[in-house]
Amino acid sequence: MATWIVNGKLWDEEAGKLADKHIKIENGVIADIADRADTAENDEVIDAQGKLVSAGFIDMHVHLREPGFEYKEDIASGTRSAAAGGFTTIACMPNTRPVTDTPETIRYVLDKAANEGIVKVLPYAAITKNELGRELTDFAVLKEAGAIGFTDDGVGVQNAQMMKDAMKLAHSLGMPVIAHCEDDSLVVGAAVTEGEFARKHGMKGIPNESEAIHVGRDALLAEATGVHYHVCHVSTEQSVRLIRLAKQNGVRITAEVCPHHLVLSDEDIPSLDANWKMNPPLRSPRDVAAVIEGLEDGTLDMIVTDHAPHSAEEKARGMELAPFGIVGFETAFPLLYSKFVQTGKWTLGFLLKRMTSDPARVFGLSEGQLAAGAPADITIVDLDSEREVEPEKFASKGKNTPFGGWKLQGWPVLTMVDGKVVWAE
Ligand code: DOR
Ligand code: ZN
Ligand code: ZN
Repeated sequence: MATWIVNGKLWDEEAGKLADKHIKIENGVIADIADRADTAENDEVIDAQGKLVSAGFIDMHVHLREPGFEYKEDIASGTRSAAAGGFTTIACMPNTRPVTDTPETIRYVLDKAANEGIVKVLPYAAITKNELGRELTDFAVLKEAGAIGFTDDGVGVQNAQMMKDAMKLAHSLGMPVIAHCEDDSLVVGAAVTEGEFARKHGMKGIPNESEAIHVGRDALLAEATGVHYHVCHVSTEQSVRLIRLAKQNGVRITAEVCPHHLVLSDEDIPSLDANWKMNPPLRSPRDVAAVIEGLEDGTLDMIVTDHAPHSAEEKARGMELAPFGIVGFETAFPLLYSKFVQTGKWTLGFLLKRMTSDPARVFGLSEGQLAAGAPADITIVDLDSEREVEPEKFASKGKNTPFGGWKLQGWPVLTMVDGKVVWAE
């Protein structure tokens, strides 16, 4: 028995437009993409009714909070939130409690994901024990346990020698190093970017250089060690410039950008509401223009959400005291579709590529494409549906978003992983 998704519209890159297609799925794998639906009597048929059918979205930077912070999110709620946003593969960060710095913790996450998760979960392991920057973790056993890369996301690795040692070791194992770029000596307990908003409110600011100095340092270390080095959540014009230069020089460097850094600047922050607080912070309009340009010209390879749920109580502490981070799964696609595709700035194909095949290419995943032989990880999106963002209705435990009340178009309606429907509106 096969499953069919009939009457879908698939992006045709050559034609530069949507094309009517039918997808045949067998044993969790795409068997055929056909012009005609030759369904057999017993086949299961899903009628896409002319909606967009895409490869499932891939998010290589998310926080699922389990173990240790289940009041913010857990693997069950986080993967449901991902599925509701059309994501079928997500890579989770190690800043849990305990930190995923041992094979036991990596296996815990993988077991939980297998038992309670509804999308594919790929865990990162920490670079340093407890993310304290003092001692490297055991990369070989963490790889063996199933970690897909090394990162201390949440904090920067402050010591250059430590980072270089990490890169050498990762490279010897064929693994990537993924970096939250932030120089602590340049960040003095600030909650927002240096710039207009900070000046207006008499607040300290996080300077652009605190990010870009690590990008520059690490690009040189990546060149010296040969490792695949991936930059997290690029937010500044300076970082884009440095990554572009490093790519021109043949460094194995890749990078990601978040929807909020593409859509919002510090000048959009309406108040001291901590739902506008994340790290890196919203930057100047000039930085926003630079990260958009960087994504468009391929300097930045992919879009990630940095989905970072926190409790309402934590976010109510105000801009200065609340933790950094906003949720991202359930707004990412409609936000970017509304702001960049509907406005004619990007093609739909470009947005889909940066959310599917590009992350797959960079991290060597078999997912992220609609093609015979690929895993049947599929998202159906109603490009015509328009509604307001309602955080109370998120599947995520985290309601911390600056996009509440925004009217957006292009909402996911069905998510399939390995040929099984895991979420439907
Ligand atoms: O905004 C952020 N939230 N940035 C980070 O680096 C960490 C993350 C979190 O874990 O909440
Ligand atoms: Zn980070
Ligand atoms: Zn993060």
